[in-house]
Amino acid sequence: MLIVSGPASPILARRVADAMRTDVVQLEHKAFPDGETYIRFPESVSGKQIAVVQSCYPPQNKNFVDLLFVLDAAREMGAKDVAAIVPYFAYARQDDTYRSGEAVSARTSARLIEAAGASHFLTVDAPSSKALQFFKIHSKNLTCMNLVGAYLKTRSLENPYVLAPDDGAIPLAQTVSSNLGTEYAWFEKLRDKVTGAVSTSGKDVNLKGRDAIIVDDVISTGKTIANTAQIAKKQGAKRVIAACAHLILTGDAERTLKTAGVDETIGTDSIETRPQPVSIAPVIAEALREIW
Ligand code: R5P
Repeated sequence: MLIVSGPASPILARRVADAMRTDVVQLEHKAFPDGETYIRFPESVSGKQIAVVQSCYPPQNKNFVDLLFVLDAAREMGAKDVAAIVPYFAYARQDDTYRSGEAVSARTSARLIEAAGASHFLTVDAPSSKALQFFKIHSKNLTCMNLVGAYLKTRSLENPYVLAPDDGAIPLAQTVSSNLGTEYAWFEKLRDKVTGAVSTSGKDVNLKGRDAIIVDDVISTGKTIANTAQIAKKQGAKRVIAACAHLILTGDAERTLKTAGVDETIGTDSIETRPQPVSIAPVIAEALREIW
């Protein structure tokens, strides 16, 4: 079995290979002057089981197309079985037609990944697990929240209290809070379907003098976390730490979070644009061992 390092995930691919005690195939890749991608396998993967690690964080479109090129090239070379490991599943959020005429981009993505030759699809803390229903191949939504919880446990936290910024994040908050042996609560979030604006209503939780740990799958614009952080601060939180699987931080996100009182953000190597303290390699390796 070989791990193929997709252009977006060289660090994670290396870590997964180390955890699996196997080798990494380093692809040759470059961008042509007009932005088109060139990909080449420098060695044959004919007859091999291969796991292509390629997280589809921004620029999503480029990273997604690169993933398709790698999967298709592997199949054409005669790989025996191909797993697409896509920790950040871009477009998963659009998992249905919420306004008539909308493209269901999660469905299109699933169809393309299958058509390119994957026989397994693994992702991590997908923003919508419903998005996986579009795959006919074996697919699984893994969680890295035990790893996030284990990391937080190594930190000196002041009587931590875990918060989910919306109901979708409840299972994540449950996992982290059970690692920390502490309580959790969740807030209600509403998102305007047209503008994308989010509003949050908090629960009456006494956070006086405590560290609030807000957990979510993705932090993108930071607005979801910022709303929760503001409420947590008003309710007396001493420190606010935001932890997630996919720390994207789009546009002004860092300023938005800081202004709202977020003291620290914690992410994973799902997103390689900046180093993060948690590696999701162990959960991917464990899932691969179950397949092969
Ligand atoms: C969707 O509801 C997800 O679980 C996240 O809460 C959301 O994607 C975060 O996005 P943002 O940081 O832009 O508020």
